[in-house]
Amino acid sequence: MNLIFLGPPGSGKGTLASYLVKKTGIPQISTGDMLRAHQAHGTKLGLEAKAYMDKGELVPDSVIIGMVNERLKEEDCKNGYILDGFPRTLAQAHALEEIADIDMVVFMAVDNEIIVKRLSGRRVCPDCSGTFHVSTLDNPELCPNCGGKLIQRVDDCETTIRKRLKVYDEQTAPLIAYYREKGLLRGIDASGSVEDNRRDFENLIKA
Ligand code: AP5
Repeated sequence: MNLIFLGPPGSGKGTLASYLVKKTGIPQISTGDMLRAHQAHGTKLGLEAKAYMDKGELVPDSVIIGMVNERLKEEDCKNGYILDGFPRTLAQAHALEEIADIDMVVFMAVDNEIIVKRLSGRRVCPDCSGTFHVSTLDNPELCPNCGGKLIQRVDDCETTIRKRLKVYDEQTAPLIAYYREKGLLRGIDASGSVEDNRRDFENLIKA
């Protein structure tokens, strides 16, 4: 299946997508991860994107659409994929329609205050890409998977999290109605545990 995970920052799109990658083998296409990989390699695109990302603003549509267009042509996308964090604007959704047939859009709903708690406690491992919450870690500085040094994303400070939520409301939330009208939207209440989200998603797919 070609899936879109749609939801506010911190709704658990990346966490659920990583689980599905392990379970099904279909790739997770996270535009946020792709942009951070460009930054890590010091590319021109990465440097341009950093200025927007650190402030919690969206990177321009032209950059994102070109990047996703190239990625979807790769061999591993032939049997399906999970789009995590794309599209985020109506212009991106229109561009996607030209290059892909989407089977389902999974909307993950979570209240803002839960999101602020989740994201301000998020720690990520630059070595193995693991994502954790400080409340679950014995040592908040070391990755429990590979022993790498955990970091906090620059955009995971409270002021920037609230800015990202505002940008989401203004530019991304209109996609909920857009995909509902197309009959593609299904929703889960993503405010429960990680296990709850997995179960609800699997029930959705079975239904
Ligand atoms: P991106 O990296 O995509 O960030 P985001 O959408 O803001 O999403 P997050 O990664 O913050 O959240 P998530 O929903 O994946 O949650 P996660 O599973 O990690 O984008 C970053 C930036 O890049 C954007 O601001 C923008 O500048 C740019 N960008 C990216 N795509 C773009 C696009 N298409 N157009 C323009 N610009 C773009 O979970 C979060 C935390 O909660 C973790 O600590 C996790 O352990 C924990 N958690 C997850 N699920 C649960 C649960 N059920 N219960 C308790 N804790 C949980």
